[in-house]
Amino acid sequence: MTSKIPSFTLNNGREMPSIGYGTWQAKDEELEKALEAALEAGYRHIDTAYIYENEKVIGKVLKRWIDEGRVKREDIFLVTKLPPGGVHPEGVSKYLNRSLENLQMDYVDLYLIHAPFAFKDVDGQPVPIKPDGTIDLDTSTDHVAIWKEMEKQMDSGKTKAIGLSNFNKTQIERVLKNCKIRPSALQIELHPYLQQNELVDVCKQNNIIVTAYSPLGSPGLAAFMETNFGRKINLPDILGNPTIKAIAKKHSKTEAQAVLRFLVQSGFVAIPKSTNPVRLKQNLDIFDFELDEEDIKQLKVLDEGIRICDWKVVKGIENHPEYPFKDVIKE
Ligand code: A2P
Repeated sequence: MTSKIPSFTLNNGREMPSIGYGTWQAKDEELEKALEAALEAGYRHIDTAYIYENEKVIGKVLKRWIDEGRVKREDIFLVTKLPPGGVHPEGVSKYLNRSLENLQMDYVDLYLIHAPFAFKDVDGQPVPIKPDGTIDLDTSTDHVAIWKEMEKQMDSGKTKAIGLSNFNKTQIERVLKNCKIRPSALQIELHPYLQQNELVDVCKQNNIIVTAYSPLGSPGLAAFMETNFGRKINLPDILGNPTIKAIAKKHSKTEAQAVLRFLVQSGFVAIPKSTNPVRLKQNLDIFDFELDEEDIKQLKVLDEGIRICDWKVVKGIENHPEYPFKDVIKE
């Protein structure tokens, strides 16, 4: 499939493809193959982050495609993020430079502050843990001072747009009140069980595009947590929800396609992750059908405020003054 993916226009006038290729949890060899398949399938929006530790392999594949003339740099929409260890004014240019070097790029299309909280900046330890097992926090965080440095990165041309991720309403409103360049995008967990209506309204009123991460409810996260953190978690089975199953069947689509269509049709960008060539292709194939009003109504009421990704796997994270998820409805 190489037909163009519909896009949304950002407040800087640039186009952001409505489906992006999510890469969290994907590492090196597996990701190299999967990204090849994703580019073949037609993905042009790639979402990564410094903290995912996979920028180098993404850079390697993109460089190969660009050098071979299979894609032009300007046809790629590349997103990366300032890690929590860099969430202080001096960290912004340092970490954007590192990301650009990893990605072998002169610029990214969107640079996001990954999270509103900050860790101490310890070289070689993206998540610095103290001897008592808790996270080594930097609690001096000032979003206005950090945003000023983000704006400088726009001026330097190293990113075409700047935005936020995991920020709550109060935090976004403070940035909006004190900025020269407004955020173009907010990336948050968003799926049928966590529709974030209040936050979405703030973004709509301020022309900020919302990107939905974990759009399928991260069905692979339980295995990832157990392997990497030895922690067992119970996840809601969104794709097994009977309403979603029925809507998918009605349109002769898969449950994942029904959910992704719901998100894009609601005006969101979605970044599903898959390293499986069949599924990643499937996740892009959502532009030949439309959900009707009744489908949308039924999907809207599935919102139970269930948050999957609260970062609490990082012990002590909720003690940061800018920890954003104190307003969780249900856990
Ligand atoms: P896989 O890589 O084996 O396809 P999310 O984007 O919400 O975090 O979800 C990612 C998880 O969902 C991954 O474990 C991925 O597994 C799985 N996944 C991705 N696409 C689909 C799909 N179309 N149907 C079912 N599971 C999917």
